[in-house]
Amino acid sequence: MNMKKVYIETMGCQMNKSDTERMLGILSNFDYDEVDNPKEADLLMVNTCSIRQLSEDKAFSLLGAWGKRKKDNPNLKIGICGCVAQQKAEKIFKRAPYVDFVLGTHNIYKLPEIIKAVNNGDKVCECTETHQTADTRGFGIKRAKTVNAWINITEGCNNFCTYCIVPYTRGRERSRLPEVIIREAKAALAEGHKEITLLGQNVDSYGKDLKNYRLAQLLRDLNALDGNFRIRFVTSYPTDITDELIQTVVDLDKVCEYFHIPMQSGSSDVLKKMNRRYTREMYGEIVKKVRNMVPDVTITSDFIAGFPGETEEQFQETLSAIDEFELDYCNVAAYSPREKTVAAKWVDKFVPDNVKDERFQRLNKKVQENCLKSNLKYLNRNMEVLVESFYEHKGKFINTGKTRNNKTVHIACDKDLTGQFVNVKISNAKTWYLNGVIE
Ligand code: SAH
Ligand code: SF4
Ligand code: F3S
Repeated sequence: MNMKKVYIETMGCQMNKSDTERMLGILSNFDYDEVDNPKEADLLMVNTCSIRQLSEDKAFSLLGAWGKRKKDNPNLKIGICGCVAQQKAEKIFKRAPYVDFVLGTHNIYKLPEIIKAVNNGDKVCECTETHQTADTRGFGIKRAKTVNAWINITEGCNNFCTYCIVPYTRGRERSRLPEVIIREAKAALAEGHKEITLLGQNVDSYGKDLKNYRLAQLLRDLNALDGNFRIRFVTSYPTDITDELIQTVVDLDKVCEYFHIPMQSGSSDVLKKMNRRYTREMYGEIVKKVRNMVPDVTITSDFIAGFPGETEEQFQETLSAIDEFELDYCNVAAYSPREKTVAAKWVDKFVPDNVKDERFQRLNKKVQENCLKSNLKYLNRNMEVLVESFYEHKGKFINTGKTRNNKTVHIACDKDLTGQFVNVKISNAKTWYLNGVIE
């Protein structure tokens, strides 16, 4: 059979990575093989992110470049999916007329019907909101050949933080059924993945819509599966972290000592305007509790610089929070106004771009300092590394992997150890990684 070729460019978060793997799984049932080179493809798709204006712009500039290829290849089909697709729907055809289909985040399982229509010359837009979760319709998932496997366990978000577009692009929060998740985890382990990362915008609110089944129980059920593998979960909403969940992380051997708990701002006043449901003090208490209960835990966070109305003093509270709560690493971003969100309307409170950029730089510097400080704690310690990749760098062979507490470790070794658990002694600590020597 003459297989067709699809190339998907994935932008944004792990949720999109997971959706791409599902879409490739579906397409493989309809005679499409994945290719790494977009030039070889009959079908080009971009899985988009709209968290910031820049991410959205990136998607449209890629589409523009792809659109030009239609001149030489009139049979080429182009699709846009993901969060920008969900948000803009048919408006995309006006801005990018060379696009053949727009597929939102709720309907990826309609891909077979959409591809059929598109190959018949139709233009399709499928962006209706559903209240369903991603079932597999029996098509399977074509996972990237990485050590880790992403499994989304909740979809959507109900929190409506005033800066954030996700509740509009991903819809209401819903939990996938435990049996479906466990089946997907077993399949991933059988394919050779050594780590499962459970995904959700608020992973710790998993199960609020199920009967008596929460994240802690799911972790227990996954931990009971056979094999040597690790389990992680991201992203935790601070006030949804229960004592039971923390204790589960302590008790279960496969669940790693790592929490990603975005704080967003160190100022209680700003947090209120962001519609985050905690104060600086409450966040501090939660982090302290996690640190006290889980030895060697890594706690990472997200922060936004220059939220509308943020004063210099309030920004300094963010810097001091990173120190006070000893956050090991943080993703930082300059505030970007997003369509439909509440904060985007506070134009008169917008922080000027130059001030925002300057705060963003200072925030980065702080994160860098603290990351090094955090890494130095592990000097001379023995740690278990799960190797993720093997490559040559400046004439030396390196294995790179992660510790249980999510620290990146480089190990100089001629042998490819990808997928193996190795015990190393930490010989050097840099800002973004550790060096390890095999014991
Ligand atoms: N559900 C997670 C965050 C998902 S979005 C949580 O509640 O923490 C990932 C990160 O993008 C956020 O943590 C936030 O720091 C950043 N972000 C979201 N909207 C943004 C915006 N409008 N401008 C800048 N950064 C934003
Ligand atoms: Fe966005 Fe807030 Fe939901 Fe996170 S919790 S996805 S920041 S609305
Ligand atoms: Fe971006 Fe959508 Fe993820 S907006 S961060 S791809 S949920």
